[in-house]
Amino acid sequence: MAVDVILGLQWGDEGKGKIVDYLAKNYQIVCRFQGGPNAGHTLKIEGNKYVLHTIPSGIFRDGIENIIGNGVVIDPITLNKEIDKLKETGIEFMSRLLVSNKAHLILPTHRYLDAASEASKGKQKIGSTLKGIGPTYMDKTGRNGLRVGDIFQSSFNAKYKSLRDKHLALLRQYPPIEFDLEGEEEKWFTCLETIKQLKAIDCEYHINQAIKEGKQILAEGAQGSMLDIDFGTYPYVTSSNTITSGVCSGLGIAPQQIRDVIGITKAYCTRVGGGPFPTELFDEDGAKLGEIGMEFGATTGRPRRCGWIDIPQLKYTLMINGVTQIVLTKLDVLDHFEEVKAGCKYSINGNETDQLPYDLTTQEIEPVYCVYDGWNKDMAGTDDFDKLPQLAKDYVSELEKLLGMSIKYVSTGPERKSLIVREV
Ligand code: GDP
Ligand code: IMO
Ligand code: MG
Repeated sequence: MAVDVILGLQWGDEGKGKIVDYLAKNYQIVCRFQGGPNAGHTLKIEGNKYVLHTIPSGIFRDGIENIIGNGVVIDPITLNKEIDKLKETGIEFMSRLLVSNKAHLILPTHRYLDAASEASKGKQKIGSTLKGIGPTYMDKTGRNGLRVGDIFQSSFNAKYKSLRDKHLALLRQYPPIEFDLEGEEEKWFTCLETIKQLKAIDCEYHINQAIKEGKQILAEGAQGSMLDIDFGTYPYVTSSNTITSGVCSGLGIAPQQIRDVIGITKAYCTRVGGGPFPTELFDEDGAKLGEIGMEFGATTGRPRRCGWIDIPQLKYTLMINGVTQIVLTKLDVLDHFEEVKAGCKYSINGNETDQLPYDLTTQEIEPVYCVYDGWNKDMAGTDDFDKLPQLAKDYVSELEKLLGMSIKYVSTGPERKSLIVREV
C-alpha cells in the first residue's frame, strides 16, 4: 500500500491545493486522477499566491514528480498558460511534470458545446465552469475522444477534424452562440507543442513500477464528493468520479494499493454553481462567511454560496470514500461569530433523518441545527492546537462526536504553514 488520496468531502474548494502542497513533502509522486481545468487549487507560499488548474499541487516541492493521470481531461490552451505562469516563478519543473498518454484532450469545440448546452438549459443550467468538461467526458465514454497519445500519430489531424466537424454539426442543434473557431484552433495547435515537451507516459505502468520500488504516492482529487457523477447531487454535478474509486480508474492502480484516504471539509460549507445546498444561508451570517472566507471561485471568480457545515452530507461522503483521516479547513473564518452552527440532521416532511434522500432537488429539506457559542477571538495562522481558544477546541470536538471520527489536521489560514497536525 503506497498510495494516499486527498479529496474534497463537500462541493469543492475545500482547500485541497493547500493540503496537497503541505503534505507533498512526504511523497515522491503527486498525481491528479480526474477533472480538468474546472478545478482551481490555491497555494499560498511565503506570501505568494498560486492557482493551479491542471498541474498537480506538488509542483512547488523540489524533486517531486507530478503526474497528470489518464482520468484527467486536458485543455492544451489552459495548460500552456499555466506552464507559462509557473515558469515566471523561476522554479524548475518541466522535467518533473509528466502526462498520461491516455488523458483526453479538450477541444475548443468542447467548450462551445458546454456553453451552448448551458445556455439552452435556462434556469435549469448546471452552472458549469464552461471549460468543456462535460462534452469531453461524453466523447470519452462515447468512444469518440482524442487522447494525448494520439498527438504523436500521423492520423491526428484527420481525427481532430472529424471530431471537430461532429461538434459543429451538434452545435447547429442549439440556439447559436458566438465563437472564433479559426483563432482558437490555431492557438490550440500551437499549445499542443507545449504538451509535446512534457514526458508522455503509460501512467499505469509508471505508477505500478513506482509502487514496486517502494515510492510513496499522493493522489490529488479535484471538485468534491457531492459533485461526483454517480453520488453527487445529480444532475448538478461534474462529469467524473471525484471519490476514492476514481483513483483506481484515473491512474491505473488496484484498490488494495490505497492506504489513507484524507478527506477535507471546511469548518462551514460552500457551493458554486446551481443545485441543492440544504444548509445554505441567505442572511447576514452567509454574507459574512463569504466575505471573511473570501469565497470567490478560483477558476471563474463567481461568488460561492455559503452555509453552515452539513453533518448528514459529510457522513455520506465519509462513507462512500472510506475516509481514514479528516482535515478541517478555514476554522479561522469562524473567528468572529457570536454563534457557530452545524446542520446535525435533516427534517424531511416532519421526519428527522441523517440520511441523504434520493433527490435533494425535489425534497423540502429543513436542517436541524446544533448551536455552539462562538469564540470571538483571532486565531488565524495558529499551528498549535493547544493555542486555539477553548470554544474553538470545543467546536472541533463536537464535530468529531457528530462525525464519529477524529480530526487529524486543522487549517487556520491560507498559508502553507498555517496548519495544525494532531496526534489522533
Ligand atoms: P481547492 O479547490 O479545494 O484547492 O480550494 P480553493 O483553492 O478553490 O479554495 C480554497 C480557498 O481557501 C483558497 O483561497 C485558499 O487559499 C483558502 N484557504 C485554504 N485553507 C484556508 C484556511 O484554513 N483558512 C483560510 N482563511 N483560507 C484558507
Ligand atoms: P475544485 O477542484 C467547485 C462545479 C461547477 C458546476 C459543476 C459542474 O477547485 O474544488 P463543470 O465545469 O465540471 O461542468 O461544472 O461543478 N465545479 C466546481 N465547484 N470547485 C471545483 O473544483 C469545481 N469544478 C466544477 O461550479 O456547479
Ligand atoms: Mg477550487
